[in-house]
Amino acid sequence: STITPNRKSSVAPMAATSTVQGVQVKTLPTKPIDGQKTGTSGLRKKTSVFMGENYLANWVQSLFDSLGDEVKGTSIGLGGDGRYFNKEAVQTILKLAAGAGVKKVYVGKDAIMATPAMSALIRGRKLYGGLIMSASHNPGGPKEDWGIKFNYKSGEPAPEKITDAIFGYTTKISELKMAEIPETDLSKIGNHSYGDFEVEVIDPVEDYLALLQEVFDFEMLRNFITRPDFSLVFDALHAVTGAYAGPILVEKLGAPQSAVRNGVPLEDFGGGHPDPNLTYAHDLVEHQWGDHAADFGAASDGDGDRNMVLGRAFFITPSDSVAMIAANAQEAIPYFKSGLKGVARSMPTSGALDRVAEKEGLKCFEVPTGWKFFCNLMDADMCSICGEESFGTGADHVREKDGMWAVLAWLSILAYRNKDIPVGEKKVSVEDIAMEHWAKYGRNFFSRYDYEGVESEAANSMIEHLRKVQADSKPGDKLGDYELETADEFSFTDPVDGSVASKQGLRFVFTDGSRIIFRLSGTGSSGATVRLYIEQFSDDTSTHKQDAQEALAKIIKVALDVSQLSKFTGREKPTVIT
Ligand code: G6P
Ligand code: ZN
Repeated sequence: STITPNRKSSVAPMAATSTVQGVQVKTLPTKPIDGQKTGTSGLRKKTSVFMGENYLANWVQSLFDSLGDEVKGTSIGLGGDGRYFNKEAVQTILKLAAGAGVKKVYVGKDAIMATPAMSALIRGRKLYGGLIMSASHNPGGPKEDWGIKFNYKSGEPAPEKITDAIFGYTTKISELKMAEIPETDLSKIGNHSYGDFEVEVIDPVEDYLALLQEVFDFEMLRNFITRPDFSLVFDALHAVTGAYAGPILVEKLGAPQSAVRNGVPLEDFGGGHPDPNLTYAHDLVEHQWGDHAADFGAASDGDGDRNMVLGRAFFITPSDSVAMIAANAQEAIPYFKSGLKGVARSMPTSGALDRVAEKEGLKCFEVPTGWKFFCNLMDADMCSICGEESFGTGADHVREKDGMWAVLAWLSILAYRNKDIPVGEKKVSVEDIAMEHWAKYGRNFFSRYDYEGVESEAANSMIEHLRKVQADSKPGDKLGDYELETADEFSFTDPVDGSVASKQGLRFVFTDGSRIIFRLSGTGSSGATVRLYIEQFSDDTSTHKQDAQEALAKIIKVALDVSQLSKFTGREKPTVIT
């Protein structure tokens, strides 16, 4: 018998080394990996995929390759939402950053940095950009999701020209440039120098808190929050805002420690789904509908950009939240004391904001779903406050939606409205603010039905069907009892740079202001998610206490009929209702 030669003797290609900023950098061979298509929210995959050989490194190298010479000698931020694999990922990213010629990286202690805090950091320290390790509200852990995204110079989600370029590089990448630097201790604040490359481990709260203190009247907030007749609960869902709620709500604003629930960021978010809505923030919902409900309840998501606001047994829909904040901002929030530059909402978000804008003489913009569409308006000083039905609310102090900002905005409204009411007397509640708002502006009843995990083909066929219905319909047509005013497929021309985003959702608008909207989610990870948005306006105060599902029952039926949703998707019921 013959002896098989030892295959190991075929030598692996030697890694070339060079020196960048006084640090040894190894050039290691790699190969493209399929499926690294990057959107504005970055790249999201199962954690185990990201932990696979070179998966993370390939994407990060592709990012630096696409930034090219522009990133050399600059400073960037780095941090994340506390999920599993973030701390390990930091070490890889630092090596690649040094290899790409980045001068300095500011890393949040323990690899923590909420998305809006990163936006604040980039803006405040005039950084070139920042990397956020997060899969937002998706569960975390070895069997769950991981993600990474890049924010650019003004703190905004990476523009398409960058995300497209990253994807391009991921398909042809052949080498990684890894600096030979030791692991950086993330558990302590401090400076580290490796040659001329610097890493500074910073407090992830400090810059962000300083900015919030410029926006809000912290003294008014503290006086209100420490009133003996006021109570609040904030549920961090074991995600990143746990690191912010203590320093901000407890230490600065005087809330009791017990006001912060699930306040320790955990790598698997305690096994939960860190999405602040009525379904996933069920602990908080039970609390607020229970005997010990607080005057004010709120929650935020994995990376701290989303928010949900509750009163006692009372839910503020995100569409109403942005309208109510806009209506009260000038009085209650110092940052807006000279008025709002304009407001904006995403297309499926209810028209409640438009009604405020109209009465107050403000310009109101309607943009496609996706926070990046607000950023151009804000950079051009055309918009101060904006929001989306998907639990995103924010302002132009940063270029991301901001959960803690929304919480402080609502607390500011409560504080302002209650400042002359003596302790012990009946206070103005979250519900009172909503009822008064509706009495003044009318109420836009709103609900969203999500059908998750629908077969992509079925979902696309339904959209095709709706396109035909839309094309064939004309003003005056009757859908059930509703008379059609217009039907179209939403297309948006950016008023700042003239860019066009088309096919952003099919909408049927009726003569009484009601709307039915259909679109497919752009953020799902498997199959398709059909979203149905329903809205109906009423200026009759006697209807305002009605439950949204009851008020909308008739028009929901019309929506299901016109779309033939159950025929196409086989679904009788939505997966989530908000
Ligand atoms: C992310 C984006 C939002 C968007 C939301 C829902 O959170 O930042 O801007 O509204 O996803 O998007 P979808 O396409 O799933 O409806
Ligand atoms: Zn998020």
